Amino acid sequence: MISIALTKGRLEKESVKIFEACGYGIEPLKDKGRQLVFHDTKKDIDYFLVKAADCVTYVEHGVADVGFVGKDTLLESTNRYYELMDLQIGKCGFIVASLPEKDPFKKNTHVKIGTKYPTVAKQYFKEKGMDVEIIKIEGSVELAPILGLCDAIVDIVETGSTLKENGLIVFDRICDISARVIVNKASFRLKKKEILELLDDIGQVIGE
Ligand code: PRP
Repeated sequence: MISIALTKGRLEKESVKIFEACGYGIEPLKDKGRQLVFHDTKKDIDYFLVKAADCVTYVEHGVADVGFVGKDTLLESTNRYYELMDLQIGKCGFIVASLPEKDPFKKNTHVKIGTKYPTVAKQYFKEKGMDVEIIKIEGSVELAPILGLCDAIVDIVETGSTLKENGLIVFDRICDISARVIVNKASFRLKKKEILELLDDIGQVIGE
């Protein structure tokens, strides 16, 4: 038996599609209501639905053998798992954005950056040789430069519509991100056959 922690929300539908294409018994997850744990109707697999950061926690603690989670979350986490596959779903990018008149690269005084991703933001500006103040925000990050909490934001952009609808523009694209398969280190030793079989099935479906 293996257990898989799936990230709720944006990645959920695309993850389910992958299992469906693999021919797994994922039907219970398609009509799920508020249920959070599911057993595959064809394979010996349990699925849990969790928030992105918790997906990493469950995998690191071995409660889930495998996790489907965005690279954005992994870049903010400690590295106590194996990252074994790029799922090619949930594709988006990290960007630096603000109001057109608030270019953070042209500001000579103290620069404040609002973000849900302090590690990524800190690292990026360090590489640019800029000493910035990072302000951690939990959501609706686009609001922060508009209300004057910060000069610019580091955030993820997918379609670009949130930036556009709030009058923000991109000053730099930091990197591309997508969803990854992570695996608990002990599980990979103890359940290697099952996990490699799973990765093989997924790989065939996504063309890896
Ligand atoms: C993310 C991100 C942006 C938005 C980008 O937020 O922080 O706000 O999605 O997507 P777009 O380019 O397709 O518009 P999310 O929707 O996860 O919610 P949040 O506001 O709670 O952070």
